[in-house]
Amino acid sequence: MLRQEELAKNDANMEQVTGSNFDKGFAQWQGYQQAPWGRLRYRVAQANLQRHLPPPPGRILDLGGGNGLDSLPLVKMGYTAVLLDFSQEMITQGQKLAAQEQVNDQISFQVGDAAQFVADEQFDIILCHNLLQYVGDVTAVLQNIYQSLRPGGIFSLIITNPHTETLAYALRDYDLMAAQDNLTQTTKYVPTFDTHIQRYTDDELKTMLQQCGFTLLEQYGVRAICDFMADNERKFDPDFYEQLEALELAVSNQYPYKLLARFYQFICQK
Ligand SMILES: C[S@@+](CC[C@H](N)C(=O)[O-])C[C@H]1O[C@@H](n2cnc3c(N)ncnc32)[C@H](O)[C@@H]1O
Repeated sequence: MLRQEELAKNDANMEQVTGSNFDKGFAQWQGYQQAPWGRLRYRVAQANLQRHLPPPPGRILDLGGGNGLDSLPLVKMGYTAVLLDFSQEMITQGQKLAAQEQVNDQISFQVGDAAQFVADEQFDIILCHNLLQYVGDVTAVLQNIYQSLRPGGIFSLIITNPHTETLAYALRDYDLMAAQDNLTQTTKYVPTFDTHIQRYTDDELKTMLQQCGFTLLEQYGVRAICDFMADNERKFDPDFYEQLEALELAVSNQYPYKLLARFYQFICQK
């Protein structure tokens, strides 16, 4: 899509997003997950999370969990999980992966709306990774998560960082007008899922988390380097990728890098 069309879509009102947006975008989403930048997203988030998890066994809720790339590695370590998502296609693909990994008896999949769900148990760990930007009432979902977490439980929130886009447009793409536009936009069009996302600064997110009762244990960044490098081809080179991954892991909890990373990751406790 041309940049102008993207900006025109940006100006449209936030539309109703449903599971079918994510069903239709699945093939492109899977391409992203397998690309070096997608692999870095899961690898770094997992490393950050594992610094805070109680040892298995434990119960995990993966809210808006997609095809399970965050929860399946944890299930393989000995946790059990419930993955809730409103895209039937994401769930079907997650079930296939669980069967391939021979862990389908340790994870259950539910088709449902994260804004409406009512948990009938309290979980030890809740993941909410790249879901909240698609949700209208963020505070209601965070309050629901708080209720569904056991006292002392761990909550991991991943969400896009709006500042990175301004820098990437300018430094990687040399598109200074796009960088300038990005400064004033509170929503952004996402072509993969044909919808807009809401954007929040880390201060706004930390305030919401605190108001819901969470204690912030650590703020991380996920992908602080990769998105500013223009040469995507090099990232497919195994040696280069290995070095990039090591660097991303090294800076994920360091200032100022974590404030510039593509995603914020907040690890909280109830
Ligand atoms: C960007 S994907 C992230 C998937 C997964 N958490 C990950 O990071 O790999 C967003 C996911 O949230 C799901 N989703 C969005 N809004 C939802 C809602 N209101 N209820 C349930 N799932 C939702 C989508 O179907 C999609 O699988």
